[in-house]
Amino acid sequence: MALPEGFIIEIKERNDITDVASSYVNLRKRGRNMVGLCPFHGEKTPSFNIYTENGSFYCFGCGVGGDVITFIMKIENLDYIDAVKFLAQRCGLNMPEDGYDDSMSALKKRIYEANREAARYFYKTLCSSAGRAGLDYFHSRALSDRTIRHFGLGYADESFNSLCDHLRSLGFKSSELIAANLAVQNKNGNIYDRFRDRVMFPIIDLRGNVIAFGGRIMTDQKPKYLNTSDTPVFKKSANLFSLNNAKNSGEKSLILCEGYMDVIAVNQAGFQNAVATLGTALTAEQALLMKRYADEVIICYDSDEAGQKATSRAIELLRRAGLLIKVISIPQGKDPDEFLRNKGSEGHDAFLNVIERSGNDMEYRLQKLRKKYNLDLPEDKVAFLTEAVKILAALDNEIERDVYISKLSKECEVTPDAVKQQMDKYLRRRNYNQRKSVFREMQKNLSGRNDKLNPERYKKPRVTVVEESLLAYLIKNPDRLSFIESQLDESKFQTEFYRKLFIYFSKRIKDNCDPLTEVSADFTQEEVSRIYGLANSETARMANDDTLRENIDVINDEFLKLKTADMSKATNEDISEALQRLRDSHK
Ligand code: UTP
Ligand code: MN
Repeated sequence: MALPEGFIIEIKERNDITDVASSYVNLRKRGRNMVGLCPFHGEKTPSFNIYTENGSFYCFGCGVGGDVITFIMKIENLDYIDAVKFLAQRCGLNMPEDGYDDSMSALKKRIYEANREAARYFYKTLCSSAGRAGLDYFHSRALSDRTIRHFGLGYADESFNSLCDHLRSLGFKSSELIAANLAVQNKNGNIYDRFRDRVMFPIIDLRGNVIAFGGRIMTDQKPKYLNTSDTPVFKKSANLFSLNNAKNSGEKSLILCEGYMDVIAVNQAGFQNAVATLGTALTAEQALLMKRYADEVIICYDSDEAGQKATSRAIELLRRAGLLIKVISIPQGKDPDEFLRNKGSEGHDAFLNVIERSGNDMEYRLQKLRKKYNLDLPEDKVAFLTEAVKILAALDNEIERDVYISKLSKECEVTPDAVKQQMDKYLRRRNYNQRKSVFREMQKNLSGRNDKLNPERYKKPRVTVVEESLLAYLIKNPDRLSFIESQLDESKFQTEFYRKLFIYFSKRIKDNCDPLTEVSADFTQEEVSRIYGLANSETARMANDDTLRENIDVINDEFLKLKTADMSKATNEDISEALQRLRDSHK
């Protein structure tokens, strides 16, 4: 999959990484570089760096790094070719005619087209006599025709092959329908419709592509909802239902619901900013996705026990993503859909009222805790305060903490100082434990036990660090390759991954190419991150000819040691074999 190198260079020149990244991340200048909050993991202090000098990024918090193409791959969830296409379009360049493997990209395009046609077909069926049952069902759930059209809802009929037949008549291949998960294959190799006798909810991404479907059965049968499995265009853990609508709502908050019907009912009541996960619990990835479009998330889960559990979990994830949180509790009915249906035309105002009365996540947690105790009993009061203090410790803001301390003290009729003392005691212990685990983590990292890319680090920590330093130097100073090669060759490398990198960079440099240009095409994302970590490391910045010579010496030394150790373990046969090889090589 080789796009011409000149083209990639042009793509990178015309898509300045700072410009590209700033439409996703708030960046500010720090020295020669830019920093911001990392969009790839939740953090409160910026460790996401943009290096203008070599057009790359690296996050010290989560260790993700790369060039502008990697950035787009990660943030837009695209593969390499599609990320290049994205950037080409951004700067008005045409993609080269051929010369690269476009098959995945082509398949994705077909899946989008098949999904779009399927959505059209389901909608058309819903509006025809064959879809009567589906339309009645939606009406029975109080959806207006306008809402049905707005969400492109539809109906998949009872037949095992109507959609397959329809799509094949439009020229889609069976393999494409299977790849889209619109069809499944039976033992005889025949394909049939995956969704049958269900009302259908298309899932649309931020570019307006239909990427998947949810289908609800209209009876009590199981499964209630059938969703598209993950396909080349759909990853359920990374998408949200109706984010396409919510993004255009102009609101800085999102209403997070549990299901399709809740989102649609909330929309119908006049709130466009509702979203839902797609049949799974909320993920960190989805939390970060929300953070890109909102400052605040209003959690609006069912009031049953499962809903409450999910709320606690969501609070953790959303907090970590740096979002403000509110929690709605639905007064009557199990979920927002039922609540709104009961309210009828007063739904909008009633729901607005509920939102306005919703507490933030602290209040929600404290209230949940309070229910467990009888605050008239002194021993319960103590137990409640002990637990409450742990919850408040999650607040970083001291003023905010003080506000709650004073509330709690009034509520439990103790002095604020007493609560404060309890809090300080807890914080001291927590900080101690945190430092301890940070230290352990550091030790583990130093010992190399965590290094999945270079597992040999664990056994050969010294030489690994030196190899790293040599590579960092080489990336920065490609013109020094011939000197390095006069001192050592790749066989002296003791860790496989860094040997591979040495060979790769040497070849690039000998071909008169910049070492980094094609990295994002030639390596996995973890490898790319590591390489850019090296390229932008302090070691790379500090490296000079002296450290280079030292590093070369260490690598050669360690290599000699290894050989000597080998020989001491060798049997007589090994030695005579080695001698023979030596003689052969001199012939
Ligand atoms: P619920 O069971 O709470 O359903 O599932 P709901 O949203 O209230 O649905 P209605 O009102 O009965 O129609 C919440 C969400 O969990 C996923 C769906 O995304 C659903 O919207 N789910 C549920 C599934 O994916 N499969 C299931 O079998 C059930
Ligand atoms: Mn429901």
